Amino acid sequence: MRHLLDTTDFTLREIDDMIALAMDIIENKPKYAKACEGKKLATLFFEPSTRTRLSFEAAMLELGGSVLGFSEASSSSTAKGESVSDTIRTVSNYADIIAMRHPLEGAPYVAKKKTLVPLINAGDGGHAHPTQTLTDLLTIYREKGRFDKLTIGLCGDLKFGRTVHSLIKAMCRYQNIRFVLISPEELRLPDYIIRDVLAPSGAAYTEARTIEEAVPQLDILYMTRVQRERFASEEEYLKHKDAFILDLDKLQASKAELTIMHPLPRVNEIAEEVDDDPRAKYFEQALNGKYIRMALILTLLARREEVEQAPRETLFACGTCKNPHCISNFQRVPHLAGRSETDGAARCVYCESLIR
Ligand code: NCD
Repeated sequence: MRHLLDTTDFTLREIDDMIALAMDIIENKPKYAKACEGKKLATLFFEPSTRTRLSFEAAMLELGGSVLGFSEASSSSTAKGESVSDTIRTVSNYADIIAMRHPLEGAPYVAKKKTLVPLINAGDGGHAHPTQTLTDLLTIYREKGRFDKLTIGLCGDLKFGRTVHSLIKAMCRYQNIRFVLISPEELRLPDYIIRDVLAPSGAAYTEARTIEEAVPQLDILYMTRVQRERFASEEEYLKHKDAFILDLDKLQASKAELTIMHPLPRVNEIAEEVDDDPRAKYFEQALNGKYIRMALILTLLARREEVEQAPRETLFACGTCKNPHCISNFQRVPHLAGRSETDGAARCVYCESLIR
């Protein structure tokens, strides 16, 4: 059975096919109006969401299917102490496909062990958000017509911003990609992304401390919000919340064909005056999220019977994970680590952080 837990669960060829399917859906909507008749999507959101959940639900409805689920953990049996494993095992009896979002990192890897139907990670803590990345890829494709030879500025909370982590994993697989990482020192990319993803890929990357110094070279500027809910204290968040605010003035030296993206929601990191600028594409990006999720649902349902081919790394038993946000520290899971191919270090199979 195929799932989508991480951006790299799909090969480049499979991503191309999904983009092509999304483009066909955009151009021939009536053709797909009954494609999922009789099928049900469960959206299990243990954490807040507007775009991701509603675009998943709109996607399934536009495919002629139906939806069920919950939008907050407090209205599910989680409030009674049920584990992710049990919730997923149960819901997979009621639905043909599941999209889940959870505040704990690695939660979808626990769910994957129990699900009877295809599972989609709709965001796990500060770790990953692969369907946002598919959305971003469709947006890049529609704006640029290519995935290579691009200089991409990633700005804001690169530490906790899961959309950035997943986007880097995806874009690193293409040729001639350069990243400019624009963040405060304290919100730099996690080590594992630099060591295990960026460095081995050969993609060039530099760091910048201001938008203005980065902007002239960029083809894409990907803004992100400071992730308030992931900080240890409100005080820490307040220190960084206004680190970057994009306005028209800061865009003066940009290329005319710059594409400004943002996974949304925006708090205050893009001034509203930018919204009507032709370079701003973040609301189009949100619409693309519906089309690519239609393509994803169709792809996974068509491959429901498929036996998973790609074996994960060899696993071995070990102690507990040091990441305080990892699901293995909250719920009963086999404590296992995967061995990284690149540096021989052991990483948690759930959240990918270093174990030793
Ligand atoms: C993002 C997320 O949930 O990580 N939102 C989304 O899904 N479009 C970005 C964010 O919350 O900042």
